[in-house]
Amino acid sequence: MLEKKIIEVRKRVSQWKKDGLSIGLVPTMGALHEGHLSLIKKSVETCDKTIVSIFVNPIQFGPSEDLEKYPKTIDADLELCKNAGVDLVFSPSPSEMYGEGHILSNDFLTYVVPPYFYTDKLCAKSRIGHFDGVCTVVMKLFNIVQPDYAVFGQKDAQQLIVIKKMVKDLDIPIEIISCPIVRDKNGLALSSRNQYLSEDGKKYSLALNKILVNIKACYKKGITDTKSLVETALVFLNNHHELEYLEFVDKNTLENKTVADGDTLVLIAVRVDNVRLIDNCFII
Ligand code: PAF
Repeated sequence: MLEKKIIEVRKRVSQWKKDGLSIGLVPTMGALHEGHLSLIKKSVETCDKTIVSIFVNPIQFGPSEDLEKYPKTIDADLELCKNAGVDLVFSPSPSEMYGEGHILSNDFLTYVVPPYFYTDKLCAKSRIGHFDGVCTVVMKLFNIVQPDYAVFGQKDAQQLIVIKKMVKDLDIPIEIISCPIVRDKNGLALSSRNQYLSEDGKKYSLALNKILVNIKACYKKGITDTKSLVETALVFLNNHHELEYLEFVDKNTLENKTVADGDTLVLIAVRVDNVRLIDNCFII
């Protein structure tokens, strides 16, 4: 079930390909929750074989981010994968992925760098180089596993759009499947980082979904000017919230919108008691 070595994964995949089986990849950083399980379910339904990768990718974390404390729950993750019908979990070490001593500076690694237009906004503004790290590791995982399908969550909307763009621009022969955001009963979008929230933080974090639901309702009533829509958010925020961004973009190209229309994606990032949370919705 668990493989740590690239060479072993390649052997398994090559046998499955010889047998004519289709392969789905679900890339994750572990600490699996219902959101991940929905991606796994989609892959298991769509493909003959499903591989889940679990790798906390150091090159997508900035120097002051949570790489060291990112939750690691490999035993529970393996159990969940087994019960969900996963065929193989690939969980390499950083040196397996990036070489002995894994020197990770830009001078020592070939990076896949998405277009600036996609990374001069939203999460990339505060997470410099984040999407270079994401695209590089995803490209490596694609090359190692060579899946027919790869499944990603709509929760990381900017990541999903950037990966789709990479696949299109580099003619990668993989179909990207996206799955809707999974929320808890109070509306909070599931994320491995929700574990960092205190009990009060959990209450304050509900503001993100409330803001999005309210924006959808305002749009339905006819408010399309995005400045006015941003203002509707203020009533949900207090001094426990630090709004990083609330933006309106085209759902395919990430182009900014001043007037919302049917193609609008609304994205929000808020620090709640210093935990960075993101959420998004299609305006219709
Ligand atoms: O979304 C994630 O968990 C990560 O960014 C990904 C796609 C697994 C790459 O490390």
